[in-house]
Amino acid sequence: MKTLEGVIALVTGGGRGIGAAIAERYANDGAAVVVADLDEANARGVADRLRARGVEAESLAVDVREPEQSAAMIKRVVERFGRLDVLVNNAGVIRVRSLLDTSPDDWDHVQSVNARGLFFALQAGARHMLDQEPMAPGRPSGKIINMASIAGRGGRKLMAAYSASKAAAIVITQTAAVEFAPRLTVNSICPGPVGTDMWTQIDREWAEHEQRPIGSVWEERVRAIPMKRTETPDDVAAMAAFLASKDSDFITGQSYHVDGGLLML
Ligand SMILES: NC(=O)c1ccc[n+]([C@@H]2O[C@H](COP(=O)([O-])OP(=O)(O)OC[C@H]3O[C@@H](n4cnc5c(N)ncnc54)[C@H](O)[C@@H]3O)[C@@H](O)[C@H]2O)c1
Repeated sequence: MKTLEGVIALVTGGGRGIGAAIAERYANDGAAVVVADLDEANARGVADRLRARGVEAESLAVDVREPEQSAAMIKRVVERFGRLDVLVNNAGVIRVRSLLDTSPDDWDHVQSVNARGLFFALQAGARHMLDQEPMAPGRPSGKIINMASIAGRGGRKLMAAYSASKAAAIVITQTAAVEFAPRLTVNSICPGPVGTDMWTQIDREWAEHEQRPIGSVWEERVRAIPMKRTETPDDVAAMAAFLASKDSDFITGQSYHVDGGLLML
């Protein structure tokens, strides 16, 4: 039997990058998957690919900046599948700015998705999960996984708003874990630099700021990784699979670095 057989999973920001890799991994491990994203076409594309392989998959358009939309997203999953076992709050954005150049709009944009959006999606998911039957006798009723970042472990040059939003994700994870135990587990993942569209944006904005060649910021980051290779979305998806599985039932309130050893605390 596959590790996520019978599990209903919802991944926000699942239309591309890390979220799409998690959706794919969950499907491979036997879960039914709902792919939710601001970019409806991308979400549909991922769900269509999974369905073509015989996986039970749906897509949803959602803007997690709007708490009512997150509540409606959870309601639709439950109407369609009867329950929600695993919620991955993965949707995220970044703007690379010096502290002095960070405008109120930059600050609000990043917090509205990464902190506020994550918080209200988690709240909507937990409201439902706390009321449902355990995943199996003796098991939690649901599992929440928040996408933080190693940037949330300390201030980062040119990333004040982003680092603050990811520190918020880590602390929200801890509060939710303690408030919802023993009914739910709540953990987060802190990736290092992963080769997705988000890093293409980071590299471009950083290079513009420091008048460096495009690609040089990324290369410098990758060189610093002790495991000596780039991190892939699948590396992050492997941790998301563990945190969704029975093997992590006694783990809650933790934030795991998946970064090839970049940050050791
Ligand atoms: N790429 C990295 O190096 C890295 C490192 C650490 C953490 N992360 C985090 O991992 C997560 C995924 O990152 P990624 O690299 O795959 O990024 P990405 O930009 O490739 O994908 C992000 C997805 O989130 C969606 N999204 C953005 N705003 C949304 C909103 N308001 N509502 C719903 N969906 C929304 C986008 O449409 C997109 O599909 C983010 O939370 C990011 O902060 C990424």
